[in-house]
Amino acid sequence: MEPRPGRRSRQEESVVDLNAVMAGRLETARRRSLDLLAPVPDDGLVRQHSPLMSPLVWDLAHVGNYEEQWLLRALGGPAVGQQWDSVYDAFRHPRRDRPSLPMMGPAEARDYVAVVRGRVLDLLERLDLDDGPPKAVHRSPAAGEPPSQSAPPPAAELVPGAFVHGMVVQHEHQHIETMLATLNLAQAPDWLPSAQAAPTGAPVAGEVLVDGGPFVMGTDAEPWAYDNERPAHVVELAPFWIDAAPVTNGDYLAFVDFGGYHDPRWWSTAGWDWRQESGLAHPGGWSREGTATWSVNRFGRRHDLVLDEPVEHVCWHEAEAYARWCGKRLPTEAEWEKAASWGPDGHKRPYPWGDDEPTPARANLGQHHLGPAPVGAYPTGVSPWGCHQMIGDVWEWTASDFLSHPGFTSFPYREYSEVFYGPEYKVLRGGSWATHPTAVRTTFRNWDYPIRRQIFAGFRCARDA
Ligand code: AVJ
Ligand code: FE
Repeated sequence: MEPRPGRRSRQEESVVDLNAVMAGRLETARRRSLDLLAPVPDDGLVRQHSPLMSPLVWDLAHVGNYEEQWLLRALGGPAVGQQWDSVYDAFRHPRRDRPSLPMMGPAEARDYVAVVRGRVLDLLERLDLDDGPPKAVHRSPAAGEPPSQSAPPPAAELVPGAFVHGMVVQHEHQHIETMLATLNLAQAPDWLPSAQAAPTGAPVAGEVLVDGGPFVMGTDAEPWAYDNERPAHVVELAPFWIDAAPVTNGDYLAFVDFGGYHDPRWWSTAGWDWRQESGLAHPGGWSREGTATWSVNRFGRRHDLVLDEPVEHVCWHEAEAYARWCGKRLPTEAEWEKAASWGPDGHKRPYPWGDDEPTPARANLGQHHLGPAPVGAYPTGVSPWGCHQMIGDVWEWTASDFLSHPGFTSFPYREYSEVFYGPEYKVLRGGSWATHPTAVRTTFRNWDYPIRRQIFAGFRCARDA
């Protein structure tokens, strides 16, 4: 297992070569990106498979351009493709418009990301990740920087602890998950990466009680935490019940069979409006011939619906309606984080099971299984309160809007988090089976519109104690 930067003991400090660790992590992400896209023909890379998603070749070159901006130019390294900044500026171009951009083709994009990476590794060798850039390296002047971004912070603030390298590694993994969601919408089973079977499940108790009282939300200690996870702050909660496992397909099917999609009593006003406008009648990918059993389409392949797997591809409104039908509600973001990261011992954990990095025995992450595992499949990943599968399997919708933690300051750029704060977005927690272990922890925050269900998202319910 690779050492965890920033979590090193004093003894390890002298022997761990953080530069080599970061080179390895960059390499791991890149191998995954290229492997994921390898089976996709050029036309499948260039085409837009859904207006919700970018063409895959845009994601690839965007990952390289982001890396160039943060691991080369912001650290005083050379410019490689600055003329591409505008085309690959996610903030400037909404996804639905990206197919019309004058973007690189597949071969050019592969070359570009490789050239950038070569220069990044050269520069990385010369960086002192404890103290900052070597004296010979100066930040280039702000001239020519992309208009939607302000000048990056000085390299001396980005380099220590390999913060900016961690940010770029996580960014590539986030796009790998996004590209997998695109492949799901592309419905082309021949383009699927290979996968191993998930472990089997086991019965899980219905709900657990989480004590009331204060806990520490967010983090100051995680070296690669995003600005939106900071700062750590005390939040006082009333006691609450939370489901010990995510809501399963079998649980959710009872709501479908009960006629839940046809009864406005279970839906919020906005949710019912959307239910009617969109014609939703079941989670994404479900279908059924006549009155026969349900099947689910993944990546263009049809499978029998597995009743003890967490339900996936439901939007926030569907999750919220299901919870109301049960006499429950969605957990707030703070409740979710307390249930995942805190315990009766008053100790904050980066993972529900403690400080150790995720392994395949603890959580379903990293696209090993290409789907959620049944509930109870990860008994060694349980939180102190007894919650299963809070990390991995499915992103979990929470009741909360995406807002800043008190004391938030944007770092290192406003367009990662700050510009998205507001009530239009709902927070999701915990990562999915498609999330890389590097890109998730108990403080990690994801967000999307409440009508979206292209992400690998489900939920669990909560209620007041
Ligand atoms: C955190 C998943 C909402 O995909 O828009 C990728 C991650 N930020 N590139 C997104 C992200 C910049 C972000 N989410
Ligand atoms: Fe991005």
